[in-house]
Amino acid sequence: MIEVKNIEKSFDGKVIIDDVSAVMKNGQCNLIIGSSGSGKTVLMKCMVGLFDPNAGSVLYNGENFTEMTGAHKTQIRKEIGMLFQGSALFDSLTVEQNVMFPLNMFTKDSFRKKLDRVNEVLERVNLIGANKKYPSELSGGMKKRVALARAIVLNPKYLFCDEPNSGLDPQTSLVIDRLIKEITEEYNITTVINTHDMNSVMEIGNYILYMYQGKKEWEGNNKEIIFSKNEKLNDFIFASEFLQDAKDMRMLEEKGKISRQRNMEALLHKDAPILIPPQQKP
Ligand SMILES: Nc1ncnc2c1ncn2[C@@H]1O[C@H](COP(=O)(O)OP(=O)(O)OP(=O)(O)O)[C@@H](O)[C@H]1O
Ligand SMILES: [Mg+2]
Repeated sequence: MIEVKNIEKSFDGKVIIDDVSAVMKNGQCNLIIGSSGSGKTVLMKCMVGLFDPNAGSVLYNGENFTEMTGAHKTQIRKEIGMLFQGSALFDSLTVEQNVMFPLNMFTKDSFRKKLDRVNEVLERVNLIGANKKYPSELSGGMKKRVALARAIVLNPKYLFCDEPNSGLDPQTSLVIDRLIKEITEEYNITTVINTHDMNSVMEIGNYILYMYQGKKEWEGNNKEIIFSKNEKLNDFIFASEFLQDAKDMRMLEEKGKISRQRNMEALLHKDAPILIPPQQKP
């Protein structure tokens, strides 16, 4: 579990993260959502210790990471896996070398042992046999999977993914999302994901923190988000008229006032008498 307590971060006197608190549990996907520039990456970097917050603290399983120093901090760092925005693979290294990098940094294992572990995680992300390829030879989805393999190679307790779906088509995004979810549940990891992908929010959002101009504007899960009356959140999530209609109908569906089939018909044919519960139909 990770607890974020009243985190504040400024750059050159400009407040970027303003008093944000959250509790992110293990075995689930914790999403930080918000529009571009709302502070998702800065918050994540404060959480992993790449930025020092001006105030507040981050607790890893109850231990205050922000105040930690030396070997203790290094120990927690070892337990953190990170998938950076844009994958951040080393272009001059092969897939195998990229994934082995954290093992070289943090372990004194033999090459054979490290290679076995690399092959194990490559298999886990469905990339068997891609060892000798260079990043330039990979598709966007493959790059993300290599980055994910590298992030989990040290068996992290905490996994941070900054925009794991950026630049991917919706189907490939879903494959990555499901992979992250499976790995999270399988190894009981506390996973934190920055995203503005609506599919991800609905598919894997066990906990969702919505950031607006550096502040926590809303928190909840992917069921509650449908019913949220928070205007800023709704404008962000259901930005198009189509999605707004879908949300309205999903709400009626949940309340048992409208059937799934009727819902779909209404959504596809704008002229259909939507939003009228069947029993009230004239
Ligand atoms: N190192 C830095 N120095 C100064 N300002 C920064 C720094 N990093 C980020 N910022 C500012 O902090 C704000 C939030 O940036 P951040 O990268 O966290 O946004 P984001 O929500 O991750 O956006 P995106 O969805 O585009 O990735 C922006 O205004 C950005 O310019
Ligand atoms: Mg970002």
